Amino acid sequence: MDEETRQHYLKAGKVVQEARKIAREQAEPGKNLKEIAETVEQHVRDEGLKPAFPVNTSINDEAAHYTPSTDEERILEEHDVLKIDIGAQSNGFIADTALTVNPSGKHQELIEAVEDVLQKALEYVEPGVTIGEFGAYVQEQVPEDYEPVMNLTGHYLDQHTQHAGVSIPNVENGSNHKFKEGDAVAIEPFITEGSGKVVHGKPGNIYMLESERNVRGRTERKLLRNIKKFKGLPFTTRWISNYGGREKMAMRKLVQNGVVKSYDVLKDSQEGLVAQAEHTVLVGVDDGNNIITTKN
Ligand code: CO
Repeated sequence: MDEETRQHYLKAGKVVQEARKIAREQAEPGKNLKEIAETVEQHVRDEGLKPAFPVNTSINDEAAHYTPSTDEERILEEHDVLKIDIGAQSNGFIADTALTVNPSGKHQELIEAVEDVLQKALEYVEPGVTIGEFGAYVQEQVPEDYEPVMNLTGHYLDQHTQHAGVSIPNVENGSNHKFKEGDAVAIEPFITEGSGKVVHGKPGNIYMLESERNVRGRTERKLLRNIKKFKGLPFTTRWISNYGGREKMAMRKLVQNGVVKSYDVLKDSQEGLVAQAEHTVLVGVDDGNNIITTKN
């Protein structure tokens, strides 16, 4: 990894590390999820970076891919298990981190369990370890009361690409792909009191440009010009100014035509509570002081 790339990762890591603290402070009962997400995203912008994706605020049996809308009505309740997933990019180099909060403390055991699994998983990532070995090891670290979510994975990061190359499951998958020095990877176990399998729920207000195809219609074209500014990274309608009824219809068409991909919320198939923890690592660099989302 060249020094310039490393510096971009460190910068992104520092900013999401601060954003994570802010997220924890923001996650108070009675707060609208939009306020939580936007306060965190604003911190990233105030530090001169851009969010790498909309802050995810998925609750209870939802594991991932929910972000508030402009007219969000959901309020954080004291017993909620809220996953806050945050990403920032510096020149397209991404740091990705996530935490789970439960204001009342009722589900603290679940949260501590996933944080412990993440800690062990991070210690296991070394050059030469295969993804298959990693998954098998992580799976073993999950306490018996819980299931690892088998179809949600960590991932490689690359410039302007949040999910690059192979996936990094938290269960054994037989992959012989080896971690190597300089790989940027997001390690993110999810554990649940439910089935350990997520299924598609409602649309989560997260989108991504999928094809550069020309589109018909004035509003569609204008919307697409705005969408291209996100450079292929995930975005939300909250980030599009003057997003009203006409734009909503245009977006629906862009999704139908396959120009834009719409992400559904992913939730446990048995509606069990889900907890997540995530950090980003530069494999084998900086003598092991290489978790860029904790190191500052
Ligand atoms: Co991630």
